[in-house]
Amino acid sequence: MIITIDGPAAAGKGTISSALSQKYKLAYFDTGMVYRAVGLQMVLDGKDIKNEEQATEIAEKLTFPQMISLSKHPDFRSGIGSNAASVVSAHPKVRAALLNMQKDFANKPIFADGTPAAGVVYDGRDTGTVICPQADLKLFITASTEVRAKRRYDEYIAKGMDASYENVLQDMIARDERDSNRSTAPLKPADDAVIIDTTDLSIPQVLEKVVALVEKIC
Ligand code: DC
Repeated sequence: MIITIDGPAAAGKGTISSALSQKYKLAYFDTGMVYRAVGLQMVLDGKDIKNEEQATEIAEKLTFPQMISLSKHPDFRSGIGSNAASVVSAHPKVRAALLNMQKDFANKPIFADGTPAAGVVYDGRDTGTVICPQADLKLFITASTEVRAKRRYDEYIAKGMDASYENVLQDMIARDERDSNRSTAPLKPADDAVIIDTTDLSIPQVLEKVVALVEKIC
């Protein structure tokens, strides 16, 4: 079974993806990690994230172990890492370099410990439109910008990170704009995606809806 979950930042994709992957014993591929890894590596190397050629060079060499190692860096999920990921993900050559590693995972999904899985939950922006258009179920999870910014702000505060709601909101607006308007694979629902707006829903309410959809295809 292949499920794709796309949508803007902090809409609830990660929570839903990991809950579904656990419940249905599926591998989980958080595709934002590949762009975060390339973006953070650029920052750590002191390179300009707007430089498409240099970012492509890093993307072409990216491996899963390198991505896992970078994911432990404190800036992997900070504002710096999020901004860098969004900027490098708008480079068409970077996306092209990272395409096969994401697509191929559907043919041979594995859990984090390397054991084979019967399917995968993809989490990202273009997983239903580009990475896995053959998915059994495609979801597009969204929520108002203000609610998503508040969720992200609360996450930062809970992790003890320094943050201001206003800055998080402005970053979110800029990131949505870049992710939705880039020339290659812009953020948008697949034609056959089910759209779920989580603005006024609790996590259990969203999960109930999503599980009902999965049960229909099991
Ligand atoms: O899901 P995330 O916040 O970790 O994603 C970080 C950035 O990566 C996001 O701003 C856009 C990019 N991204 C993408 O372009 N395509 C994907 N499938 C996943 C993420």
